[in-house]
Amino acid sequence: MLEQLGKIEQEGLSALDIVDESEALESWRVAHLGRSSPLMGIFDQLGQLPKEERPAIGRQANQVKQSLEAKYAAKIESLKQADLRRSLETEQLDVTLPGRNIQSGRLHPITQTMRRIYQIFAEMGFQVYQSRDVETDEYNFQLLNFPPHHPAREMQDSFYISGDFEIDNPVLLRTHTSPGQIHAMREYTQENPQDPPPIRIILPGMCYRHEQVTTRSESQFTQVEGLAVGKDITFSDLKGTLSDFNKRMFGMQVRSRFRASHFPFTEPSAEVDIECFVCDGKGCSVCKRTGWLEILGCGMVHPIVLQNGGYDPGIYTGFAFGMGPERITMLRHRVEDIRYFWENDLRFLEQF
Ligand code: PHE
Repeated sequence: MLEQLGKIEQEGLSALDIVDESEALESWRVAHLGRSSPLMGIFDQLGQLPKEERPAIGRQANQVKQSLEAKYAAKIESLKQADLRRSLETEQLDVTLPGRNIQSGRLHPITQTMRRIYQIFAEMGFQVYQSRDVETDEYNFQLLNFPPHHPAREMQDSFYISGDFEIDNPVLLRTHTSPGQIHAMREYTQENPQDPPPIRIILPGMCYRHEQVTTRSESQFTQVEGLAVGKDITFSDLKGTLSDFNKRMFGMQVRSRFRASHFPFTEPSAEVDIECFVCDGKGCSVCKRTGWLEILGCGMVHPIVLQNGGYDPGIYTGFAFGMGPERITMLRHRVEDIRYFWENDLRFLEQF
């Protein structure tokens, strides 16, 4: 039996020598140290041996077991080392390759324009006033002096949520930021209706119109409204404020033109053009050969509107204006189609 143990050890060790990967190592462990290996067979037979032979055989069997286990552990380690060496040789890392670009986000072009507008008006002392997107017919039209059958009220222009404006006061998505004028004036006059404070605010926000979508008009767009109310505000203040705004927005040399126009909530009313900065006023395709680009609508706040806001038109005057950040962005960056702004196409947005 001692001889047999010697043979088990020899065979085990030489079989282990040629093992060179982990699957073969596991088969070796099952064959030489597992439950039904010859070595374990010897342990099983120990009980049947004559008493005096048992200690010597037992000791020898334990030694063989320890020897095989030690070599087995050493083999695990050497296979691990070999694996590592192999992967270091084959999987090379080329540190000279260029790195991957980090994609950074940015502000939407309209947000950038809005922030520039806020900054310019902040420098002139205007605060930002947030008004609601969902309005009533009363605020969106009636209090702004729209006559009952003004074409802008018709169903094709407004997104009505409920009702009929002839009978009740339906809810709609605001078609312009001007209803914010009434909300602001009513808030400013609340505390001291007899002697309300002057107002100098801009009101930015999304507007909605039930219109044909074209390269120049979207059903959803932003506006920035402006409102100044006080005791000695004149049309000169309006001209000065907006000419100065145009210079800061489009360049110090830009000239502004005020053209008579009409809005129900301002009187007198005007549209403001800037001299075309593409052709310097000579006439080109951007300004449609006129030399001028239309920028915004404005005027002196109509006495009825002042009154609806709680300001006595005998004492107070004011001016208001409304501009479209999409239009301003299109002119500054020569964007040809307004629909690009809300399509979320990265090829467009990444240019800004
Ligand atoms: N609300 C007008 C529009 O949407 C713009 C405007 C605002 C005109 C304030 C005059 C004064 O076209």
